[in-house]
Order: sequence, then C-alpha cells, then structure tokens
Amino acid sequence: MSDPDGHDKSIDDPAFDPDDVSIVQDDDKTSADYYFDSYSHFGIHEEMLKDVVRTKTYQNVIYQNKFLFKNKVVLDVGAGTGILSLFCAKAGAEHVYAVECSQMADMAKEIVEANGYSNVITVLKGKVEEIELPVSKVDIIISEWMGYFLLFENMLNTVLYARDKWLVEDGVVLPDKTSLYLTAIEDAEYKDDKIEFWNNVYGFDMSCIKKQALMEPLVDTVDQNQIVTNCQLLKTMDISKMAPGDASFSAPFKLVAERDDYIHALVAYFDVSFTKCHKLTGFSTGPRSRATHWKQTVLYLDDVLTICEGETLVGNMTVAQNKKNPRDVDIMLKYSLNGRRCVVSRIQHYKMR
Ligand SMILES: C[S@@+](CC[C@H](N)C(=O)[O-])C[C@H]1O[C@@H](n2cnc3c(N)ncnc32)[C@H](O)[C@@H]1O
Repeated sequence: MSDPDGHDKSIDDPAFDPDDVSIVQDDDKTSADYYFDSYSHFGIHEEMLKDVVRTKTYQNVIYQNKFLFKNKVVLDVGAGTGILSLFCAKAGAEHVYAVECSQMADMAKEIVEANGYSNVITVLKGKVEEIELPVSKVDIIISEWMGYFLLFENMLNTVLYARDKWLVEDGVVLPDKTSLYLTAIEDAEYKDDKIEFWNNVYGFDMSCIKKQALMEPLVDTVDQNQIVTNCQLLKTMDISKMAPGDASFSAPFKLVAERDDYIHALVAYFDVSFTKCHKLTGFSTGPRSRATHWKQTVLYLDDVLTICEGETLVGNMTVAQNKKNPRDVDIMLKYSLNGRRCVVSRIQHYKMR
C-alpha cells in the first residue's frame, strides 16, 4: 500500500495511522468503488475512444447537427476524458457541464484547459446524484452510458436522474432511443472450450464449475456465419420518456431457423439511435455490423438444440437489476422447441457481473 507520494505504509510502520482514511483496505471497497476505480485508469478510456463506431457516431451527431447545440447549455453525464463535452463546445454550445465521478475528472479538467475550452466547459468532479449544478436547467443531456448487454453497469438510471432533475421541458437527450435484440447461433467449438471443458479437467470432474460458467453470459464477438435464426427485437427504450423501472422487463421472442443446424446459444446485442438529428443517426452492436468494444452477449444453453429450417424456438426473456448489486443484471430465459428432431422446454438463469 502506498501513500500519494509513493511511500509504502504497513501496519508495522511507526508512521501507520489507523485513522488515516487514505488507507483503504480492499475488503472495505464496495462494488461501486471498484466500478468507479475502473474508470480512473486511462486504459478503459483508451479502449472507448478507439472504438471508432462509438466515438465517430457521437462526433458526427454533434458536428453534423450544430443547430441542436448553438447557444445551448449541455450536461455531459459521465464525461470521462471530456471528449463529448469537447465535441459539443466545438459545435457551438454556450456552456457544457461535464460531470465525472472518477479520478479521470482531474485529467478532463487538464484536457479542457490544454485545448482552450475552459471558458465553455466546466468539469465537475463527483456523482451526478450528489453534485450541485451551477444552473437550474440544461437544454441538452448527452451521455455514453451503455454497458455490455446494454444494461450492465446500470448507468442509465443516472441519465434518467439527470433528465428528471435538470432537463428543460422540451430538452433533448442524446442518444434518445435504444433497442435490444436476440438471435440464436451455432457455437459448438467455443461452447466446448468454455463450458464442456469443466467436465473433464486433466481427468478430473469439475462440472460444478460448469454450472457457474453456464450462468455467466460471455461478452465476445460472434461471426455472422454462426447465426441460425432471424433476429428478434426484444425491447425498445425511449430515453427521453421512460421511467427508471422500465429497464427491467419481460419480453417474448420467436426465433425461426433459416437453415438446418444446431443451436448452442442465444446472442443479445443492441442498437442506439439519435432521432433528433437532421438525419436519423446511430449504430448497431450486432454481429452483422462493424465490431465495437461492446461485442455481443452470448448466453449458452444447457441443451444443444437440433433445429430444422422453418422451425421456431419460442420463449421469453426477463431482465432485472440485481437487488443486492444494482449494477449487475439478472436474466431469466424460458425457451421451448417442439421440432421434428428435438423437443426441449427449459428455464435458465444468468447473471451479468
Ligand atoms: C462509458 S464511460 C463514457 C466516458 C466519456 N463520456 C466517453 O464517451 O468517452 C462512462 C463514464 O461515466 C462515469 N460515471 C458513471 N456513473 C457516474 C455517476 N453516477 N456520476 C458521474 N459519473 C459517472 C464513469 O466514471 C465513466 O467515466
């Protein structure tokens, strides 16, 4: 453990002060602390900034729709390095409030200064839910809040909180629409490697871990050639209107096989749209689109489903915030196939954490 000057502190050290709050035992950390800590390191911001699909879309939305920003007051929810605030300032916003709770806020302040925008952008270090804004209302709320499986990390609630507290009556939320989709894939090789692996590890039965592995959705890129069925829209959310509770939902699905194949997993992904732009703008994180850092979310099935072209896998997906840790997501999947070569009906539970 080091103090801010890089000197080691240990319990045996005479300089050790048990009341020194700067010495935080890892055990005392909550998952929220780990979450915000992860955004204090530049590495995660590098990954996001280098996600060209993500960052270029926001840049295009802002630069190609200057009429939205001209003389407007903007709130950037979770500003990170301040990149979206800088785009808005350059597009002619009157003032931008960039709120960031991780240590990255200090860097954002330096970045704003280094680029000569200190008179337009005010960086506020703190949680959106705890800070005081110097203004009572803003015209635009911009945020990049989406997590894996769209809802992991649950930053959406922070955006909705900011919207309800500060957005003017006819204000704009960017992005304002998002949809979650589901499809089914053949994935024998990877399922073997990640799940069946635990059946026989150097001759030993470790299948108790297999049960856990099955419960954790895997974030990975899926090759579009693996897709066996159509893609089904599960849920659309209107960020400008929805209530926080609407992010928990239950939706039916009907996946029709487009060829004879085996199904090993269902795959979820999302689209994001900015409908207030002059021309509808957005991006998809689906397997048929250019890869993003969100990849896709793969939910492996207990059974291998032998499906024939035209047969239908029907079911229901229930998505809810985890009660103990609201940043985690609980997923319940009910599915059944009544096919010529396979009859299965099952319920599976997953946890994104
Ligand atoms: C996905 S990153 C996006 C960063 C930046 N806007 C960008 O586009 O590169 C989300 C940021 O929001 C911050 N954040 C999350 N919850 C927050 C909250 N409740 N209050 C303030 N900042 C928050 C995180 O620390 C993180 O830096």
